[in-house]
Amino acid sequence: MPLISRRRILAGALASPLAALPHKEAAAAPAPAPALKTLAAARGITYGCAVAAPQILEPDDFTALVLRETALVVPENEMKWADMNDGPGRDDYSLGDAMIGFARAHRLAFRGHNVLWYWRTPGWFQELPDRKSAEAAMLRRVEAMVARYRGRIHSWDVVNEPLNPADGRPDGLRKAVFLEQIGPEYLDLAHHAARAADPHARLVVNEYDVEYDLPEHDAKRAAVLRLIERMRAKGTPVDAVGIQAHLSVRRWPFSAIKLRQYLADLAALDLEIQITELDVTDELAPADIAERDRLVAEEYARFLAVALDEPAVKLLTTWGLSDRHSWIVRHETNDMKWRKDGLPSRPLPFDAALARKPAWDAMAGALRAAPQRQVG
Ligand code: XIL
Repeated sequence: MPLISRRRILAGALASPLAALPHKEAAAAPAPAPALKTLAAARGITYGCAVAAPQILEPDDFTALVLRETALVVPENEMKWADMNDGPGRDDYSLGDAMIGFARAHRLAFRGHNVLWYWRTPGWFQELPDRKSAEAAMLRRVEAMVARYRGRIHSWDVVNEPLNPADGRPDGLRKAVFLEQIGPEYLDLAHHAARAADPHARLVVNEYDVEYDLPEHDAKRAAVLRLIERMRAKGTPVDAVGIQAHLSVRRWPFSAIKLRQYLADLAALDLEIQITELDVTDELAPADIAERDRLVAEEYARFLAVALDEPAVKLLTTWGLSDRHSWIVRHETNDMKWRKDGLPSRPLPFDAALARKPAWDAMAGALRAAPQRQVG
């Protein structure tokens, strides 16, 4: 995000005090249904969603919905390095600070997303001349980011999407900027630095393409498990694995058995499991809204029936909350996931007018059916 628009958002935030939403908005008409956060909490699960700064710093009916439904928020882009950096040492924490301030004011937990991601790494980093300077710059980033919010973060995605078995390395690591400039040990270095900077935040390895019954997903699941085993063997701190869960209607085969086995294998490594970015694209569903919403809800239900049945899954986060604000609707995904008829997608539990959709019922049903988690 260009710095100029960051300033505009912050100016809006200052004009409307963060500490409390106007009372009438916070206490909107009594909800006919319980909140997702309440259904989740009853099972020992934390429910949250991704938000972008303007959506919460300029309060409106959507902000009130976030406060009603969620117990945790995660910034969609504002803490990614390339989104907050304007050159070496030129980091702008203002939106991150404001979003954490909002979360604290409203007693929401906060996920840190993310410290390092090959795809959102500043251009100058990629041009550093040697390994030593790259390692030093990476560690400065980890230490500055994690220490700044010490004690205030539920969990940090330390390295987002570190694996890509298709790149052909035996260790499955993605052949991208940190691996190329520092070497495979960059991941351990980053995790150690993150732990030292905030001993209380859970450290998460967050991955995608682990949800379906495809050879690439088999390979990714195996690579995640091997990575965690290697980290554990070396004494590298890691607390949780994230499953992004960007799902699609009618696109890929699903195996409840394989997903269940993956979750059990992760749980056996004594890891917490987090569903970190759940949403469902509908590009292969018909235009009819009732039919589309039904198919989207089915995809939520099919995935969550398995995912939430594993007691190690302690956190569920959707990538947005209403179809009013979604990277899918904004066409920021791979174009394969855009509807060819140009109709807006309907990926989330609430529609753009903030009405509950069948996907909400699917989530509520899966939460109600989930076994009780041990708390603490
Ligand atoms: C996405 C955001 O939603 C978009 O606004 C942005 O253009 C690209 O990134 N996996 C992740 C998230 O870990 O950070 C991504 O978020 C979605 C895929």
